[in-house]
Amino acid sequence: MEQKKRGSFTGSIGFVLAAAGSAVGLGNLWRFPYLAAKDGGGLFLVVYIILALTFGFALMTTEIAIGRKTGKSCIDAYGMIDKDFKFLGPIAFIIPFVIFPYYCVIGGWVMKYAYAFVTGAGMSTVADGYFGSFITAQWSPIFWCAVFMFISALVVFFGVEKGIEKFSKVLMPLLCVIIVGIAVFSCTVSDPESGRSAIDGLKIYLIPNFDGLTIGKFFRILLDAMGQLFYSMSLAMGIMITYGSYSRKDTNLVKSVNQIEIFDTAIAVIAGFIMIPTVFTFMGSKGLESAGPSLLFVSMPQVFKAMGPVVGGIVGSFFFVLVIFAALTSSVSLMETIASMVMDKFGLKRKLTTLIVLIASAIIALVTCLGYNVWYFEVTLPNGSTAQILDILDYFTNNLLMPIVALITCILIGWVAGSKSVIDEVKLNGEKFGREGLYKVMVKYIAPICLILILISSFGVFSKL
Ligand code: PHE
Repeated sequence: MEQKKRGSFTGSIGFVLAAAGSAVGLGNLWRFPYLAAKDGGGLFLVVYIILALTFGFALMTTEIAIGRKTGKSCIDAYGMIDKDFKFLGPIAFIIPFVIFPYYCVIGGWVMKYAYAFVTGAGMSTVADGYFGSFITAQWSPIFWCAVFMFISALVVFFGVEKGIEKFSKVLMPLLCVIIVGIAVFSCTVSDPESGRSAIDGLKIYLIPNFDGLTIGKFFRILLDAMGQLFYSMSLAMGIMITYGSYSRKDTNLVKSVNQIEIFDTAIAVIAGFIMIPTVFTFMGSKGLESAGPSLLFVSMPQVFKAMGPVVGGIVGSFFFVLVIFAALTSSVSLMETIASMVMDKFGLKRKLTTLIVLIASAIIALVTCLGYNVWYFEVTLPNGSTAQILDILDYFTNNLLMPIVALITCILIGWVAGSKSVIDEVKLNGEKFGREGLYKVMVKYIAPICLILILISSFGVFSKL
């Protein structure tokens, strides 16, 4: 078996856009605005931004530097930093391999909604129980998931430069234009019937709300922000290590990390300018209580319906196309991470690897789809929520494996290999590392504590706060 030459981004713009493409995903759109509305508006925003500049910055710098230093995906990268940490590679492999298939199932739902809006049938998605009956139907979700997965595979098939970089360079600017356009429109809506307007929603979003703030509640906000940040920046999925391994040695890592973080946070904040004013205007504060699939697939279509068939149809179409773009660039990064590990480990060629990963992932995705009908069951998770197959996979990776992998990574760099191993890579070409002191403290002490708290909260320990 011949080892293929490793792919590489052509320059720092390609690298930053691809990494930002991974970071900007469903989390930015369906969770960030919900948390902001729930956790005191401007208060949450400030907490989130401070954490991004400290906690997020430290973890992302660590992962990208490990990737570039070793030139490997995470299956080998940890072991190359310290051979006692080789065991982390296979654990980290599991994460994208589990997430990718179910992310494609959700991506398929988004495609179906985009299709419905673009073809003018979008208003039917508002009917009571539409979402439930769609995902529990047997064939349609499988079909749309297959389409979504196939597009992701096609991009990975063409490689880092001709596939991922090109794809991100087209989709990410388009995504920015669409999201800003819809956000500007969203800030002008009003509903004569209820007398509410976008301004009322913006107040909830932007003005810090200290009402009833206790230490416990503040701690809860901090935890929400940390968990969201961690997921939103695509950390501990092996993605940033893989993309780091494709970045060129002359890329300025500090600058790139800043740009990726600013991109991701800006898109999340702008998503808030879409969701909060529109949902509040047309549905009132009750509407702001939903997050995740119900926000995207139940509340938003209702908002579009309230805008009227023409305006709602157009805005809804752009909106779901935007969600497709966000989800696709994230799923591509997941599939590439898996493919990269398979190529590293078995020395297979990219095209064959893509096919193997596609088939294996399709099987898991199929099982996930069937978890809503043929193999339907419900279990209660340790955090108290009821779950089907998709939720179980999500819980297992997001709440358990990812914080564990990130925590062990911090121990590896902060305590075993030493933060110098990352700092030297960051300053390889004599670059200035402005937050070097902060980085050392973060990776050794503060980030591990934050990660332990995220892990403990997965068991619902702090839910009463
Ligand atoms: N960062 C993504 C988001 O905010 C999360 C993600 C990335 C999920 C890549 C899957 C794959 O939605």
